[in-house]
Amino acid sequence: MSANKINERVTRYSFGGVNCYLIDDGRIRVMIGCVPEMYGDAYAAAAGAADAVILLTSKPEYAAGLGVLIKNRPDIAVYASPAGLRNIKEIVGCDINEHIVKDGAACSLAPDISFYAVPDVHWVDTVSAVYSGILFSGELFSGAGTEQGLEGFYRSRLDVNRGFVRTALEKLSGIDIETVCPARGEAIYADGLDSLFESFRQWSGEKVRKTKKAVIIYASFSGFTRLLAQKAAERLAEKYESRLINAYETAEDEIISEINDADILLIGTHTVNRNAPKEIWRAVAGIDLVNKRGMEYLVFGSFGWAGDGIKLINTTLASMGLRRAAKPVEVLFRPSAEDIADLYKALDKFSE
Ligand SMILES: Cc1cc2nc3c(=O)[nH]c(=O)nc-3n(C[C@H](O)[C@H](O)[C@H](O)COP(=O)(O)O)c2cc1C
Repeated sequence: MSANKINERVTRYSFGGVNCYLIDDGRIRVMIGCVPEMYGDAYAAAAGAADAVILLTSKPEYAAGLGVLIKNRPDIAVYASPAGLRNIKEIVGCDINEHIVKDGAACSLAPDISFYAVPDVHWVDTVSAVYSGILFSGELFSGAGTEQGLEGFYRSRLDVNRGFVRTALEKLSGIDIETVCPARGEAIYADGLDSLFESFRQWSGEKVRKTKKAVIIYASFSGFTRLLAQKAAERLAEKYESRLINAYETAEDEIISEINDADILLIGTHTVNRNAPKEIWRAVAGIDLVNKRGMEYLVFGSFGWAGDGIKLINTTLASMGLRRAAKPVEVLFRPSAEDIADLYKALDKFSE
């Protein structure tokens, strides 16, 4: 554990890279944030004399260590959002002296501290706290001065919830802030705040495209599924930016990044030993279901006897919450002119 001053009333304690902040105004002592379970003892020592703990989230990485403190100080007031309180009791496995945090409201024990709900940044129960121009931002704005940096941390943790990040930025930019104290990494001071908010606005900004993007991923040995994929790509190129990807020859990361950048998804798979190949399954496993739920899709492929691979991928995408544009196009061995016509008919089912 290391400790250093943010100002004369606020001290930062860092436990293996996780920051907590003790506010001591000479009257009330409040610990903002908590730690993973493995740092529970050190945290209890640092927070032992506090009057209250504010949990910005119940995510175990920033909360599970509370159990040790609660054992020593069952009376300590714990502030969190309603969902945060429900979750933390299940995580530490005992009752706590709980206090609900409301959006835009002040802390009942320390009225100089106010709360702002920032749900899904990165957990649904997340709040930010503000005290005397200092924003305690949790994972948002984390990573400065670390190996990952601000952008690396944002991309690995928060980008999946970018819509919620945008909402949080809008809410927090209306508050008078001079310093940002995040859950990880260095504090950011007044002269860096405009560019901090601007960077986050850019990273989380919605992509505006004039032309929608169709991504066609296929797996084929003897070329029959490839022919369907090529025909689909050519046809879609009339209306879409169309990207054709051979699943056997393209790195998994690239495939997944293309899928998650797509507006419509086509998966072409042959069937091998009653299954689709693992390259196709890996692509399916990489779909970002937070942002891509509801994306329209079509499955197609060539088969020899039962075509189980096509059926498995089709039903899996549907049960993941993607929207089937048309029935799968299943072709026995080599595609005929009629099969290609059926494929085109299925492509016409994608909504405008
Ligand atoms: C090793 C092997 C196993 C296969 N297993 C199946 C199977 O379980 N079910 C099926 O319908 N077709 C099966 N097939 C047939 C292929 O799916 C069929 O030949 C298809 O046309 C290949 O398409 P492609 O040219 O895109 O590779 C198998 C083919 C091979 C080579």
